[in-house]
Parts: sequence; structure tokens; C-alpha cells
Amino acid sequence: MRVLVVGGGGREHALCWKIKASPLCDALLCAPGNPGIAEVATCVPVGAEDIDGLVKLAQDERIDFVVVGPEAPLVAGLVDRLSAAGIKSFGPTKTAAQLEGSKGFTKDLLAKYNIPTGAYGRFKDAASAKKFIAEKGAPIVVKADGLAAGKGVILCQTVNEANDAIDSIMTARAFGAAGNEVVVEEFLYGEEASFFVLVDGKTALPLAAAQDHKAVGDGDTGPNTGGMGAYSPTPVVDAAMHARIMREIVAPTVDGMAKEGTPFKGVLFVGLMIGEDGPKVIEFNARFGDPECEVLMMRLKSDLLPALIATADGQLSNFDLRWHDQVALTVIMAAEGYPGTPRKGTVIAGLNDAAKIEGAMIFHAGTKDDGGKIVANGGRVLAVTAVGKTVREAQTRAYQAVDKVKWPEGFCRRDIGWRAVAREKA
Ligand code: AMP
Ligand code: GLY
Repeated sequence: MRVLVVGGGGREHALCWKIKASPLCDALLCAPGNPGIAEVATCVPVGAEDIDGLVKLAQDERIDFVVVGPEAPLVAGLVDRLSAAGIKSFGPTKTAAQLEGSKGFTKDLLAKYNIPTGAYGRFKDAASAKKFIAEKGAPIVVKADGLAAGKGVILCQTVNEANDAIDSIMTARAFGAAGNEVVVEEFLYGEEASFFVLVDGKTALPLAAAQDHKAVGDGDTGPNTGGMGAYSPTPVVDAAMHARIMREIVAPTVDGMAKEGTPFKGVLFVGLMIGEDGPKVIEFNARFGDPECEVLMMRLKSDLLPALIATADGQLSNFDLRWHDQVALTVIMAAEGYPGTPRKGTVIAGLNDAAKIEGAMIFHAGTKDDGGKIVANGGRVLAVTAVGKTVREAQTRAYQAVDKVKWPEGFCRRDIGWRAVAREKA
């Protein structure tokens, strides 16, 4: 079968690497891809948000199956457009992608189906949002309703900060139309985890849980990023917690979406806060996490492609997946300036040596081929990944690989996996 993967980050490199290994895959294309992906797929210069261009590419190339990586094309309706053109794809429809595309939609669904999450209010005007903030007090969380490239969530320690956040989102329009509406939410305490399930509209097949590291600096300090590193499995989601998440969160969400007439198909990414009173939903995403996907793909033993096809076909019941009995851990190497304006065009060397470290795999996230040299071309540039018997071993190997990368203008956190390593020692 001829497969097209949409996207060009570390997540899509991991997906392409795994799909390429499938005996079902006869040809693999990626739009737009990156130099790492080019080692396993034919990269085509069509942007991940160019919906018309992607549909035309899939038609011209006689693609049998499209796997959509990022959220923007899902929320823009790529899956609906491909389906209208008779092309099968992995990912939710535009309406179902509202689980990621509209925080208000998600909060209302969670409330209606009694799914655990923080208390909240939805507001279309600044005055009523501020009134709610005054009633609830701080700390409190202010969120732009729509997609804001991971930046639309503001954690406010004081009422003044929260009022400023409302002004910046609703009046100064810091995130454009994403701020037509806001969600103001209770501040949740606990440990975060990312939980992934394949959903075929009615059946949910759990993949695995991972833990991301959102803050840019060691010890979880500094501004939030798209994610500076991840590992899987994570001890905070043990077998009992896994069962609880499936029962209390995933099952009612999948049923609720079907009952609302918007069945969800694709990968459901449950962003969780696990506190003293159990798991609560922070957010849903309608796609794989990045960098969580990199560690999931390293751990997955089974062929990924049939699972993605079964998801699209509504055939997940009785489907089974096997996992390597190993921990995978990934360290993001980012360009100077990230998460602000990253410096582009600096040369990266040593990648072949890094890949020789036992258990290591280097996924490209934001790179470009500049006349045979690999240069930085984004904020998050490499996802340096390794497997090991323990978190500690995977971490040691990943940092050995990081240290082989010759890129003075890049940086990374040195403590990815610290929570789990501390637990292993205990
Ligand atoms: P989101 O984009 O919704 O994942 O939010 C980004 C980050 O903000 C999350 O990963 C959490 O660290 C934090 N966050 C979001 N909502 C809350 C909340 N209600 N309480 C505490 N932290 C939150
Ligand atoms: N790593 C978090 C995300 O993909 O949203």
C-alpha cells in the first residue's frame, strides 16, 4: 500500500520510521518531511497546513492511506476532505478534532458525561470572565479557547495576573481568533502524564502512557515549551491507574463523542493531572504528542500500520498490540532562543556518531539540508532517543548520544526522567 504521512517534526520522523518497517508499506511519502525523514520516505514539499495541496498530492500519487501527524490540518478538516475524495486516512474529522481545537467544547463534554476535570467557566466577554475570577480567587488558569500553538494557557498566581491574561487574550488578541472565547479553570495539583489510546469511533485500544517535560529549564523551571523530553512507561501510571483512566476518562469520552454524533477516530491524547483524588483531564489532543510519539514508537513491538488502518476502519475490537519490555527516553535538543525566537541555520555535526550509541535513535524535529550539511531550522531541532532496561539506563544512553552531537548553538535539559529516576533509586 502507498502511504502518505503529513508533517515534518520528530513525531512524524518516528511515525515514518515505524511505518516504513511494515511489510504492508510499499511506498512511503511525507509532506513536507525533513532530512531525517528523507532517509526512510520520499519527502514532498507540500506544507502540513496546505489542505488543497495535500489532497491533490494524495490523488496524484494514488495514496491508499494518509496518516496525519499535527493538529492544525485535522482541525482544518483534512480528514473530511480526503474522505470526500475517497482516500482513507488516520485522524479525526474536523468536528471530532474539536476535542483539541476548542477547550470550551471539551469542558462541556467532560461536564455533561461526568468525566473528572477541573471546575471551569466559559466566557465570550472580558467583564464576565473577570467577575468569575474575582469570585474564584487565585491561583487560577486562563485558557484561550482555540489553537494557540501550545501557548494559549496562562497559569496565574494572582487575580491581577488572571485579569491581565484576560486582557491579553480577549482585548489585545495575543492569540488572534483563538481568543474569541476563554475558559477559566480551577488550578489542579499533582503529577502530569500523557496517556494515549487508539479510538475507532466506538472501541478504545490503549497504547501507553508517557511523561513530558514542558518547562524549558532543568528542575522544571522557566517558560513552557512544546515539550523538552519524555519517557515511557511512567511509574505514575501503574496498572491500577491505567485501568482507572480507561474506565473513568477514556470510555465515557469515547461514548460521549459517539452519543453527540461526533464519533472520534484516531489517537486520543489525554493530558492528565494525577493528584490525591485521582486522575483529572487537563486537556485532550487529537493526535500523537511530540516528543511522546518518539518514545512510544521505540517501545512498540507490533506493526503500527495495521493498527492505524483498523482505527480508520472501525475494526479495533479484538485488536492487540505488543510492546518491548524496555523504557524509552528522549531528550529534545533545541536551538538557542527557544521557546522565544530560535536561531536558525547553525550547523549540526556528529549525528552518525550519536546514532551509534547502544539503543539510540536520532529523530529529526526541526532540521534542514543545506547543501549536504544538516542545519537547525526550528525551535525543537532533534529528539535524541534511547531505550534501556531502566529509566536510568535509557537516560544515560540518551545523554551519551546527546554528547556526541556537535552543535554549540543547541541546548537541552540535563534532567529528563528525573521523577522516575528518583523513584527507581527509592
Ligand atoms: P495545555 O496546553 O492545556 O496542556 O496546558 C499547558 C500546561 O499548563 C499543562 O501541561 C499544565 O502543566 C498546565 N495546566 C493547564 N491547565 C492546568 C490546570 N487547570 N491546573 C494546573 N496546571 C494546568
Ligand atoms: N508534548 C506535548 C504535545 O505534543 O502537545
